[in-house]
Amino acid sequence: MSGLARQSEISKQMAAFGAEWLPAEPLTRHTSLGVGGPADIIRVHDSRRLPKIMAFLHEQGVPWRMLGGGSNVLVVDQGLPDVLLQLARGEAIAFVGNRAEVPAATNLGTAVLECAKRNLAGMEGLAGVPGTVGGALRMNAGAYGTEIGDVVRAVTVFHGATGLFETVKTENVRFEYRHSSFSPDDVVLAATLELRDCPYAVTLERIKECNRKRLASQPIQEKSAGCIFKNPPGHSAGKMIDELGLKGTQVGGAVISERHANFIVNRDHATAGDVLKLMDLVRARILKAFGLELEEEVIVWR
Ligand code: EPU
Repeated sequence: MSGLARQSEISKQMAAFGAEWLPAEPLTRHTSLGVGGPADIIRVHDSRRLPKIMAFLHEQGVPWRMLGGGSNVLVVDQGLPDVLLQLARGEAIAFVGNRAEVPAATNLGTAVLECAKRNLAGMEGLAGVPGTVGGALRMNAGAYGTEIGDVVRAVTVFHGATGLFETVKTENVRFEYRHSSFSPDDVVLAATLELRDCPYAVTLERIKECNRKRLASQPIQEKSAGCIFKNPPGHSAGKMIDELGLKGTQVGGAVISERHANFIVNRDHATAGDVLKLMDLVRARILKAFGLELEEEVIVWR
């Protein structure tokens, strides 16, 4: 079968499974950092069809990865041989008492605000964190004293390895600093969040306060993948990088933000190579000066 015929066959199959086939998408368009080569994307509109989609990919020998909002990934310039699965937005949040059932594709900030409007609080710090609820769960996203794992009661996943759906109670998931115990083969589909009663006006004020702090300390108007390195226990990566005078250091179009030293921003058509070189430079300087090995917070896809 020619390449084109194969593409059309996959596209037809995916349409039958209620999914969109987007071949060779430039990942500059699908990531907040705006770098990365091409990859094929399958946008899944009906997660109940995942067993069929996975079986098809398995049959074709095509590896896959989940793409959430693309706000915490750095994709290499060569692109990826794997297909990226992305859950389409559309499903609404369901509320029962002080619990919210949130589809994984929901934008995290939207989820925080929707809950707040129903007088439910507990996620204010996360309001300005970019990305989807699914991505936030995988990374146990956190900011201003809140980690999403703190408010999760259950998570519905599709286990890619077994082809089974399961709702996992939170006591069976480990949420750690920027890490959760889901396996790479688990597709997070939805989360049940348990929140506190709190008047909307009060929560909104807290959200605004966090957003003010973020605006003052982080380069949110520039393209980035958020903090590049995890904070080593008892240390602040940003503070250490700043102390070494590395703010403003530039490789190609990538720059260490002058506003927050743990952010690398894509200021002028940066490549993934530029960003990776800057990361290597920072790692080497921190190791030399502080004897600490920085661990990546951003997920590098090679
Ligand atoms: N600092 C500097 N120079 C800098 C940056 C920070 O001196 O360039 C100092 C600050 O003044 C402060 C300390 O370092 O005394 C900590 O800085 P900040 O409050 O900005 O927090 P952070 O530890 O750098 C963490 C998370 C952020 C999250 C903020 C707010 C990590 C790696 N980073 O940053 O998360 O938004 O706290 O809660 O855990 C992300 O996950 O991508 C992210 C940005």
